[in-house]
Amino acid sequence: MNNDLINKKDIYFPSFSGSNNNLISLLNKTSQIICDWFSNAEKYGPLNFDEEFKCLMPDQNGNSPEDLFSEIEALISNSFNPVHPGSLAHLDPPPLILSILGDLIAAGLNNNLLAYELSPSITHLEESLFKWFSKKIGFSDFSGGIASSGGTLSNLNALIAARNYAGLSSDPNAVFLISEEAHSSFIKFTKIMGLNDNNLIKVRTDNEGCMDLKHLKKIIKECASKNKKIFSIVATLGTTIRGALDPIEGIWDICKKNNIWLHIDGSIGGIFALTNIPINGLKNIHCANSITINPQKILGITKTSSLLLVSNIDDLKNTFSTGLPYISSKNNVIDRGELGLQGSRPAEVIKLWLGLRFLGMTGIEDILKSSINKKVFFEKNLSSKKYEIYSGPLHIITFLPKGMNKMESNSWTQINRNKLLKNNFMLSRPKFKGKYFLRAVMGNYNTSESHIGDLLNILNSTG
Ligand SMILES: Cc1ncc(COP(=O)(O)O)c(C=O)c1O
Repeated sequence: MNNDLINKKDIYFPSFSGSNNNLISLLNKTSQIICDWFSNAEKYGPLNFDEEFKCLMPDQNGNSPEDLFSEIEALISNSFNPVHPGSLAHLDPPPLILSILGDLIAAGLNNNLLAYELSPSITHLEESLFKWFSKKIGFSDFSGGIASSGGTLSNLNALIAARNYAGLSSDPNAVFLISEEAHSSFIKFTKIMGLNDNNLIKVRTDNEGCMDLKHLKKIIKECASKNKKIFSIVATLGTTIRGALDPIEGIWDICKKNNIWLHIDGSIGGIFALTNIPINGLKNIHCANSITINPQKILGITKTSSLLLVSNIDDLKNTFSTGLPYISSKNNVIDRGELGLQGSRPAEVIKLWLGLRFLGMTGIEDILKSSINKKVFFEKNLSSKKYEIYSGPLHIITFLPKGMNKMESNSWTQINRNKLLKNNFMLSRPKFKGKYFLRAVMGNYNTSESHIGDLLNILNSTG
């Protein structure tokens, strides 16, 4: 047998009795590469992608870890770098250090949140942490939740539960309502849920980007007259383009009167409700039936980390439980795979738990407050004579020179996004109200006021 193969076989899997020295040295080497990449962020900028970059595919004999390390380095050095202070494009902040450790632990444990017998301690952890979240936002003892891979899936779990709760799972007249500034993924749900465009109704927003309650009431009347049955109204707590908050209390009044499930898409803003940061519109979210919160989007819990919390955990169980015929279940413990769409699921909750345990409420508040303060500083100093500016109370701001039409906005945003990238600032370029804009998301803890000052100098002097 060839020697390479013998060496490789030694490190297929962790040893159950030996020293695991091979694994330790590979982990050390990997840590070094990742840390070097962080340390060199300033040199290479937020986006350092070589268009010629290619990955080799698996071959007959496999490769030694030594060979693979050069490929790993190429992959890493061609990645988007969220640690760079100019990374301000999206809701993808730097990874929290304790959360990186959590990911490593989850990979090492390779437990499965499908079932208690495959993840006993972590099943307890997820259940307890989600209860903690539920209590923090004011839900009762009946509440709980389930994690999933991102906000899209959390929202989908919620809407499927809402439709089941309304007894409309196979009714073609079942509809749900969102605001016209809600996230684009809601359009996907109609396809997945066996619905079509007519089953999704968009409510107008006001000048601040918040759901217009008058229009909502009008739609509810129209639905009643056309025999359309509303199974959920979705309020967004932090819209994607400008961080607007829909008026939860007003929407809740309407839901209560009409016996409609209120879902809050708090993928962006929900996490702020854990803190005492004074933001109008974040109180009383406990009136909702369900709420999505995405700690991956601002706290830096590594992807993915998304929670769906429900006021009554039985609503998830009644919707998704099928029984798991190949699993030995335990009395009084719900196998987590019975509470949502996903079956096998990694122990992602570890990185959330470790991150929050490390930060504590003070650390959480510090990160969130700093993002708002940076946005306020940026907004105050971005020329309002020159720019049309859209921004709600959160950390997102979207802008475009005044008076541009669609074509002009298209070229201006392309030219200036590239110009900013050359200066190591990465902003996004969303389409909004029929035009293109630039958008800055101030959720990067590494970005200082002096960095923002440099960004403002470019924007305020740009033609
Ligand atoms: C308001 C809102 N909801 C839902 C989502 C979807 O979240 P994810 O990308 O984690 O699936 C996003 C994504 O940015 C969002 O901004």
